[in-house]
Amino acid sequence: MSTDALSITDKRNDRTYEVPIQKGAIRAMDLRKIKTGADDFGLMTYDPAFLNTASCQSSITFIDGDKGILRYRGYPIEQLAENCSFLEVAYLLLNGDLPTTSQLDEWVDSVTHHTMLHETTKTFLEGFRYDAHPMGMFISTVAALSTVYPEARNVLDPEIRAKQIVRLVSKVPTIAAYTYRHSRGLPYIYPDNSLTYTENFMNMLWRMMEHQYRSHPMLARALDILFILHADHEQNCSTNVMRAIGSAQADPFVSVAGAAAALSGPLHGGANEEVLRMLDEIGTQANIPAYIEKVKAGHCKLMGFGHRVYKNYDPRARIIKWTADRVFEVTGRNSKLEIALELERIALEDEYFIKRRLYPNVDFYSGIIYQALGFRPEMFTVLFAIPRTVGWLAQWQEMITDPEQKIARPRQIYTGHMQRDFVPIEQRTGVSVSA
Ligand code: COA
Repeated sequence: MSTDALSITDKRNDRTYEVPIQKGAIRAMDLRKIKTGADDFGLMTYDPAFLNTASCQSSITFIDGDKGILRYRGYPIEQLAENCSFLEVAYLLLNGDLPTTSQLDEWVDSVTHHTMLHETTKTFLEGFRYDAHPMGMFISTVAALSTVYPEARNVLDPEIRAKQIVRLVSKVPTIAAYTYRHSRGLPYIYPDNSLTYTENFMNMLWRMMEHQYRSHPMLARALDILFILHADHEQNCSTNVMRAIGSAQADPFVSVAGAAAALSGPLHGGANEEVLRMLDEIGTQANIPAYIEKVKAGHCKLMGFGHRVYKNYDPRARIIKWTADRVFEVTGRNSKLEIALELERIALEDEYFIKRRLYPNVDFYSGIIYQALGFRPEMFTVLFAIPRTVGWLAQWQEMITDPEQKIARPRQIYTGHMQRDFVPIEQRTGVSVSA
């Protein structure tokens, strides 16, 4: 028997099977041969919420949740955050290697020259109510771009794919900024090609009557770092959605819109908005112990704490904490930071959080920085979606070019009625509908 194999004995019929182990995994399809008879479908695995299922092989992002390690294409996140611009990291994620100077210049030039939106897309945005949530506007407008670039549906053509990737990376900050301007009733600001990616984003958000908007270099750099930290996180909920929609060969605009919809949930990208609401609710440091008791009693969750993969300090949270200090040197300290620091201190010493290995995640401090930078909580998830678009696209491209991938289609364990005969309406007794 091979040593890299799993020996399985089926106690139903005492038959033994050998299943190869590759890269620490067995292939679920190898279990199909385990059956009790010719009519038996074969064994499946049952894994709601994909707790222990690898859906792909990927060379993009590595996470060791127990050790608190995050690497993009092999480079530690700490080194990338310290030394790179966001677009440099975007190039790395999308192409597999850090760019040379000429490659970076070409990439930055290309992204810079695709930031404009078609005027009809601006009109489309006008249709939203004044109080529409920016994430709803973002999702819908990204999806609407699919109608502007119908050739995008040729997803198997590498040149067309590359063009849509540039378009999406370039245009998501413009859409994001316009959702903000719309909600404030302000005129839209066209992109400024003389600015960097984040400076231009800040320009489109906040320029008023001045000739040219100049962001504070430290604040622009802080946003750039936040974008780097949020760019990819392997097979998270929204990336899984991106791959699933993309596996049906839908175009990348609607696929990114679907992924962004998943991101908008409070358990995923919406968590940073919830963290700020929670800090507001807590109000003062004196109220922290009572709030922790509420969490422990199961009445609510400590937002920004816990992670499906990290059972250690999220390495992004550490960099964000460092960035927060730099930002507050410019903007002045924020009382919410004091509450967050104290909340973290108390939680990390509490048996409930220690036992469950719950640590601050990326969302715990990011909202506080976003607020210090001048963003309203409604914009936080949009700020997450801008850089994560790069990760979604890198993962989508990898999926499309992976010969092993097919349309994503999980199995189920059916628990309903097997078969029953139709009952005419006058003979039905009705069912009690429970919520
Ligand atoms: N506050 C309080 N308890 C928490 C918690 C939190 N933030 N996160 C997890 N727990 C508890 C669960 O209640 C559960 O306790 P139990 O074993 O007594 O039932 C245990 O820790 C395991 O959590 P579980 O829900 O199984 O983990 P998960 O991997 O399914 O969920 C998250 C991961 C991220 C969805 C979850 O930690 C969470 O909801 N966090 C808050 C939202 C958030 O910050 N999301 C951003 C993620 S980057």
